[in-house]
Amino acid sequence: MTDFETILTESADGIAVITINRPKALNALNQQVLEDIATAAEQFDADDSVKAIIITGTDRAFAAGADIKQMAELDFATAFKTDFFAGWSRLTAVRKPTIAAVNGFALGGGCEVAMMCDILIASEKAKFGQPEINLGVLPGMGGSQRLTRAIGKAKAMDLCLTGRMMDAEEAERSGLVARVVPHDELMDEARKIAATIVSKSRIASAMVKEAVNASFETTLQQGLLFERRLFHSALATNDQSEGMAAFVEKRDPDFTDT
Ligand code: CAA
Repeated sequence: MTDFETILTESADGIAVITINRPKALNALNQQVLEDIATAAEQFDADDSVKAIIITGTDRAFAAGADIKQMAELDFATAFKTDFFAGWSRLTAVRKPTIAAVNGFALGGGCEVAMMCDILIASEKAKFGQPEINLGVLPGMGGSQRLTRAIGKAKAMDLCLTGRMMDAEEAERSGLVARVVPHDELMDEARKIAATIVSKSRIASAMVKEAVNASFETTLQQGLLFERRLFHSALATNDQSEGMAAFVEKRDPDFTDT
């Protein structure tokens, strides 16, 4: 694994952890953080010993947004020509399940990075928001799209138009996060979820991710067909034979990711 400037990485027992580590700037996401997160995620995605990836923050922040100090100098022509923010699609191209463990502020780009992950869990101290309106701009890394799909128009408009923050309890109630846990238990809980994923078939979990994500891109009929065809494909795997045999024989399955 590469040495990174703005993140910490570790991996053990099939679980990789990427920790955003610019605490003095509340983990603001500059171009280097993007490069580091995307590169680490791609390396873990390609590493056969890793089956799930957790992304978390440090101290008070998951990430307090794109780096405003870096963006303050940005002009339209440069942003357009470099397709500023487009690089984040590298994170969404990761095929292994990703878990955002949101420890504190997840604002603007921070909320958007969390929403790029497959499962969001939050500590009781987490705060979510799309405060770009306060800067005279709007979300630029998917906030207006993914937040609206996650929590619906009413709340997405409320958050994006007022710039207010919502706490973890409201985020769970709204359907943005899967679980809220006591602050000190956040990483234990994230690792438990990851360990559960690690114990499953990697092929099946990748298919689940593809199928659920397809629901955002397709009509219901196309999505149902895609899911059904993936299901048919799963019947060609050794893990399907093993999983069903283990059930019949009343034992734990031993998946081989084949
Ligand atoms: N970019 C750059 N620096 C940031 C930052 C950001 N998004 N958020 C916080 N910081 C820096 C502050 O400038 C400060 O640095 P200095 O000590 O050098 O002054 C340090 O982090 C600590 O922040 P505060 O002193 O402001 O801490 P606070 O506790 O008083 O407030 C906060 C916390 C409410 C999160 C506040 O920092 C804040 O509002 N941050 C900006 C949030 C924001 O607007 N995010 C959206 C950015 S735009 C975006 O993300 C576009 C997009 O769609 C991708």
